[in-house]
Amino acid sequence: MAEQKATNITWHEGDVTREERQANLGQKGVTVWMTGLSASGKSTIAVALEKVLLARGKHAYRLDGDNIRFGLNKNLGFSAEDRAENIRRIGEVAKLFGDAGMITITSFISPYRRDRDLVRKLHEDARLPFLEVYVDCAIEEAEKRDPKGLYKKARAGELKGFTGVDDPYEAPERPELVLRSDRLTVAESVAELLATLESRGLLGA
Ligand code: ADX
Repeated sequence: MAEQKATNITWHEGDVTREERQANLGQKGVTVWMTGLSASGKSTIAVALEKVLLARGKHAYRLDGDNIRFGLNKNLGFSAEDRAENIRRIGEVAKLFGDAGMITITSFISPYRRDRDLVRKLHEDARLPFLEVYVDCAIEEAEKRDPKGLYKKARAGELKGFTGVDDPYEAPERPELVLRSDRLTVAESVAELLATLESRGLLGA
């Protein structure tokens, strides 16, 4: 857990409620948190989901692991500590987006259960819906895809601490949704995500 360093700070309430913002936007904020191995399909599914939601007139935005590491999280690597900070920051960003009424789709390996649980707690405390989606792909399949050649590098010992090879991945115990991305098409995964959002009343007006 990150330490609160600043003192002498006071929360300043706004004059617009979340409900008013939601009414203006015609939707509710929610975080769709995808977790899974590298090359499991998280980013591909996120891109496809974002497109369908926008076509339906919804406001959605992706936070992608690789992309965020070019900017906001450029000072973080892949130690357990840095991964925890990566996820903590994105959890906070997703919470802000959710408060603003955005459908936020995150695609981070987020290998540690504890880090993901902290993000869930953050959302619960803020009364924001949080859907943990386990993008479950057999490592053999992820390794076969290997779009960035990283599994190959890791197996050759040229890349240390790679998730699934010589770094852990802790699968979710009670995710809201499991997508067997090694068996489903991208379109099928998107359909499942939409059905999950719909069944929870998160795509209504
Ligand atoms: S996380 O573990 O902190 O959640 P994140 O999703 O941001 O990871 O970044 C993962 C991406 O970084 C991978 O898809 C891959 O392209 C790249 N990467 C580089 N080094 C590693 C590594 N050691 N372990 C996992 N992914 C890595």
